[in-house]
Amino acid sequence: MIELERLLRSQGFGSRADCRALVRSGSVCVSGRLCEDPFARFAAEGLTFAVDGVPWRYRRFAYLALHKPAGYECSQRPRHHPGVYSLLPSPLLTRGVQAVGRLDEDTTGLLLLTDDGQFIHRYTSPKKAVPKVYEVTTRHVVDGLQIAALLAGVVLHDDPRPVAALDCVLRAPRCLRLTVTEGRYHLVKRMLAAAGNRVEALHRISIGGFALPAALEEGQWMWLEEAELALLAAEKASAF
Ligand code: URA
Repeated sequence: MIELERLLRSQGFGSRADCRALVRSGSVCVSGRLCEDPFARFAAEGLTFAVDGVPWRYRRFAYLALHKPAGYECSQRPRHHPGVYSLLPSPLLTRGVQAVGRLDEDTTGLLLLTDDGQFIHRYTSPKKAVPKVYEVTTRHVVDGLQIAALLAGVVLHDDPRPVAALDCVLRAPRCLRLTVTEGRYHLVKRMLAAAGNRVEALHRISIGGFALPAALEEGQWMWLEEAELALLAAEKASAF
């Protein structure tokens, strides 16, 4: 059991004093009932509550998927464009949600965010080799030699370690579906450059077995529940 002000604090609603004031002002309902006692105790697991009419559920850790639009930076201190963090509600930022790896400012698609440090490590560690699938639109028509080079391994400019795609499927003359397991800086753009082509547009479709849901529009985010977390941990996305 946990006091309401502590529970709200853990979910990103500010300091204990802020949360106490929030409860006393009549802004908080718990399981559908107004609660004005900041010291009322509740079992946290699965608890639903509302703050100023916005529904929430207690979560020990926050796991999110964002459909990143172009024109947003993944940095905590964006310099030239708005940051992806501006697309999230403030309690998620207060509780310290961070992007799991980064996408370039002009890349769109699936971006995971969480406040679980172990999860970030698991999904960004080179040792874990989590597959990530990108839809790559190229400037030039892709030929068989380029596909063979991407699958065999290419050497990037400024980096002697060769890198190979796990899979590479031609979808259209200028469109590839490329699976990589590393997360090096500008990896896909540099791989395509090394293969003699150029990336015009890049969209991440999936991570592990979790594909960006078609219903999640650009700029929108969703909670990842047990089912999605299990898919993420799977080897391959079941459907695109
Ligand atoms: N590779 C890139 O070049 N850019 C991204 O945003 C992601 C992978």
